[in-house]
Amino acid sequence: MAELQAFIFDLDGVITDTAEYHFLAWKQLGEELGIKIDREFNERLKGVSRLESLNRILALNNRETNFSLEEKEFLATKKNEHYKELIQQVTPNDLLPGIHSLLANIKSNHYKIGLASASKNAPAVIEKLQIGNFFDTIVDAATVKRSKPDPEVFLKAAEQMNVTAEACIGIEDAEAGIESIKAAGMFAVAVGTNEALRKKADMTVERTNQLKLNELIKSFQMYNDRLAKLK
Ligand code: BG6
Ligand code: MG
Repeated sequence: MAELQAFIFDLDGVITDTAEYHFLAWKQLGEELGIKIDREFNERLKGVSRLESLNRILALNNRETNFSLEEKEFLATKKNEHYKELIQQVTPNDLLPGIHSLLANIKSNHYKIGLASASKNAPAVIEKLQIGNFFDTIVDAATVKRSKPDPEVFLKAAEQMNVTAEACIGIEDAEAGIESIKAAGMFAVAVGTNEALRKKADMTVERTNQLKLNELIKSFQMYNDRLAKLK
């Protein structure tokens, strides 16, 4: 039976809430292009790569084929420059509730901790939050070829920590992220209230302060006991 060895966290929406900064940066670019986006639409950009997010925004005005890849990269870079300015304000106070004590608790119980983020800005955000010392590995979009829902980012984090996928718990707030964890063959924990997310995950909590180490371990063990009986 699989023995728990590591936790792999998503960044945006699980460790800190950078979604608002992504939203503000896309909104500004949208205004320059004459495309309006609101917070509701922004939900559809969570966990989605930078270029795919731009495509979804352009698709709002049926303009995704109006730009060459080079032009799209220019626009995405422009958004990113603004995003980078916005995340300068991030401090350790921006850790979501309960996350610091959860990371400390995991560490003192000798489990490994990895980060699997779709954001190329992940290392900068981790530095701003001053939590780099908790992580055994950080895998971000800059070091993988395929975006979530592909399992690559979670599998790479497990590989770099020298643990098997079955020995990991992945924690995510986006549907694409939960799909990525499940495709990697890991136990998936969702944070959020979205019904679709709940259906795809093995365990769900509504808020980060409900992520408790003993509950996560218990749930992981029950899941594996059920799997063992099925075999
Ligand atoms: C994800 C966010 O973590 O990273 C997305 O949820 C974002 O909203 C994606 O588009 C890519 O981030 P970045 O920083 O590389 O543009
Ligand atoms: Mg996320």
